[in-house]
Order: sequence, then structure tokens, then C-alpha cells
Amino acid sequence: MKLSKRSWAEPFKIKMVELLKMTTAAQREKAIKEAGYNTFLLKSEDVYIDLLTDSGTSAMSDQQWSGLMLGDEAYAGSKNFYKLEQAMKNFYGYKYLIPTHQGRGAENILSQVMIKKGDIIPGNMYFTTTRLHQELAGGTFIDVIIDEAHDPENLFPFKGNIDLNKLNTLIKKHGAKKIPYVCVAVTVNLAGGQPVSMKNLKQLRQLTHKHGIKIMLDMTRIAENAYFIQQHENGYAKKSIAAIVKEICTYTDGATFSGKKDALVNIGGFLAVNDKKIYEEASNLVVVYEGLHTYGGLAGRDMEAMAIGIQESVQDDHMKARIGQVMYLGDKMLEAGIPIVLPVGGHGIFIDAKRFLPHVKQVQFPAQALAAALYADSGVRAMERGIVSAGRNTKTGDHYYPKLELVRLTIPRRVYTQAHMDVISESVQHVYENRKKIKGLNMVYEPKYLRFFQARFQKL
Ligand code: F0G
Repeated sequence: MKLSKRSWAEPFKIKMVELLKMTTAAQREKAIKEAGYNTFLLKSEDVYIDLLTDSGTSAMSDQQWSGLMLGDEAYAGSKNFYKLEQAMKNFYGYKYLIPTHQGRGAENILSQVMIKKGDIIPGNMYFTTTRLHQELAGGTFIDVIIDEAHDPENLFPFKGNIDLNKLNTLIKKHGAKKIPYVCVAVTVNLAGGQPVSMKNLKQLRQLTHKHGIKIMLDMTRIAENAYFIQQHENGYAKKSIAAIVKEICTYTDGATFSGKKDALVNIGGFLAVNDKKIYEEASNLVVVYEGLHTYGGLAGRDMEAMAIGIQESVQDDHMKARIGQVMYLGDKMLEAGIPIVLPVGGHGIFIDAKRFLPHVKQVQFPAQALAAALYADSGVRAMERGIVSAGRNTKTGDHYYPKLELVRLTIPRRVYTQAHMDVISESVQHVYENRKKIKGLNMVYEPKYLRFFQARFQKL
């Protein structure tokens, strides 16, 4: 028989493994009940395959581990800071760097420096911590993502794009002075890891330039976004991920970054900007919230590992295997007829809980119930990304009712094997076959901020 296609595989081999505890169905049933049916409240020991998040869960390379030994733990002016600064300039091209302990630390500083009470911050779909920091600084987030993003079955390849008409209308209504910046996430997490096209970014730059509005990236998964541009956008097939990443940054004025995703580290982040005044104010504030401007809450060794991770993250072979693994799981789900968000995005598979559990109303938290059922079935830990994550409208007090009610199977980088992907897919299929038995939940404890982390539920 003639070979029709050649498989890809990881551009690394495994040097060390972490042993896992295997659990029984009875143990898992007890564990999830004790966790209030919230997968965030499970003990990680009780989890077999941990798909809660791709954040801080990557496997570092031997280069990164050896970098830890080069940590310069001076309070001020650590040489690892200068190495990180150089990596940021080389790969992203911004002028100034302020390290922070993770992405939300940078979001806090940026929001405090740039947002005044009453300001509007348009963005391509909200992200939990980003929006909260904008609100705490007195601003209002307004979603200007294209409508396709809210439709889990729409196959448009760049569902992260900004709807320029929506943005234009917003500028006309409120005036450019009320809009300090447009917040653009690459990729869009809550839409399913959906990318933004280069064309959209260029057009956005033209529009905002005309009105003197800045663009601030959330470039947490920028290398993954670049991969989709390389694969699907005209004119980019022959460009490297590194070149595409750098081009994206040229259309923007600064960025917040969680190094815990793309950059393959367990902790770390930064704020990067081109404007000297913004930099000066931010480097004043970072001292209050994070630490001196040359460490921002990180150890020297953390900055070293992040600098190396940034460089590894933009290698074409790495990204091909990273997204290749996500696509492999996506194909398995599709073959089994599981309703998932399409096209498959960068960092995981998002199950459409509305179609999976049509008998559970959104106020009964279908995605939360599904994530709990999946854990009970196999020890696979997923995360709710629906009504619980969306929280409440601070003005009306009612829940936000997001169109997307999803369970996210987030794939850590360089951690699990293809056999793990098979086990995950089989477990989802088993739960799907028994879906009619799954009931909704009642929220019995609700924290005030970012409730999804600590809320507790009971079965209805
Ligand atoms: N922006 C995006 C798009 C994110 O996905 C995250 C984190 C952050 C900002 C905040 O970064 O965690 O370093 O403070 N996302 C994680 C997740 C928590 O599971 O999706 P952080």
C-alpha cells in the first residue's frame, strides 16, 4: 500500500517523568462532591489527566532547567532581567519591559496607568482577569469581536477578529477621548483559542491611528496565533512563526503577557510598551504591587527560564507539534460526533455544553455539570467556560449569559502523549453516551470576584 501521509511528532524526547496516582470511580465521585462540583477545588493528586489549564503547566526544556541555575538573585539589576529584556526586544520588538509575577499583574498596572473613570475599553471578547482589572480601574469593557466568534459552529478561520464597524460605531458614540486603547487578545481564549488575522490587525491599526487610539495586545498566546496565520492567511505560508509574531507586534503600542502559556514557564509575565511616559508611570506602580522594576515579583531564575522559553515558543517545529496534538484530539472528537467549537483553536478543545446537554438550562450551569461528570468518569480535569466564568453584571447584579457555554479541555505544552489524547477522547464519548443522566447544579457558595475559581455547587 502506498503511504498517503507522513505523521508529525514532537521535536523532543522525554528525559524525566512525573508519576501519577490512579483513582477508582468511587474515589472520584467522593472527591468531586467534596470539591463542590468545581474542578478548581479538586486536589491535583486526585487528577489523572489535568486539562484544567495550559497556564503554568508546561514542561520546561533541559535548557530552561539549566537556566534556573543561572539565576542572579540580586534585588536590583539582575542579569536575568537584562536577558529577558533582550529576548522581549528580539522577538516582540517593544521598547520597554516591566516584568510582573504573571499576566494579571501586568493587566493591573496597565489598567491603572491608562484607564480613567468612565472610559470604554473595546476588545475582542472579554477575558476574566483582564476585564475585572479594567472595571476595577473605573472602565467599562465592550465586546467588539465579530459575530462569528459567538457561534460555535461557524467555520470562519479568524474568529478572533475585531468587527471594525462595531468599533467605529463605538468611537462615534463615545468619542475617541473616552477610549484609551483597544485591547486585542491573540488568540481569543474564551472564543475557543480563535486567532486574529494580520489583515484585521492592519485595518485596526489604520482605524485607531486616525483617532489617536492605542492598541494594547494581550499576547499571551501570540505564537499560537502566528501559526494559524502561517497556515491560513494569504502570503504567510513561507514566513516563520518568529517573523509573524514580530509583525503582529508592529501594529500595536504595547502588550500584557502571561509567560505561563506560550513561553513555557510555570510562572512569570510582563508589560511591554513603546511609550516612554506610560513606561515611567508603570514602572512607578510596579514597585507598589509586584516588586522593583527589574524583577516585578519574579526570581532571577524565573526571568531566565522565561527568556529561554520565549525563544523556544517561536520555533516552527515546536508550534507544529503543539497545535498538531490539539488537532489530533479535535479530530477524535469529531469522528465520535461530540459537539465542539469549530474550527479547533490553539490551546485546547472546547466542548459545546449547550448542545451536549440540551436538557440542562443555562442557569443550571450545564458546562460546570459536564466538567464534573467528566472528572467522575475518568479523572480528566477540565474547566467550565460559560455562565459561571462570565460572572455578574456589576450594574444589574444579574448573571451575564454568554452565548458560549463551554467545557475547555486545555492541553498543557509538551506534557501529555498521544495515548493520553486517546483516553481523553474515549472518556468524553462515554460521558456523551450517558449524557441524559447528567443533571444541572445549584450554586451554594458564590465569591464576589472571579467566582468560577471558588464557587461551590450541589446536584439538583
Ligand atoms: N489573558 C489571557 C488570554 C489568559 O488566558 C490569561 C490566563 C491571562 C490573560 C492572565 O494571565 O494567569 O498569568 O495572570 N489564563 C489562564 C487560563 C488562567 O486558564 O486560561 P495569568
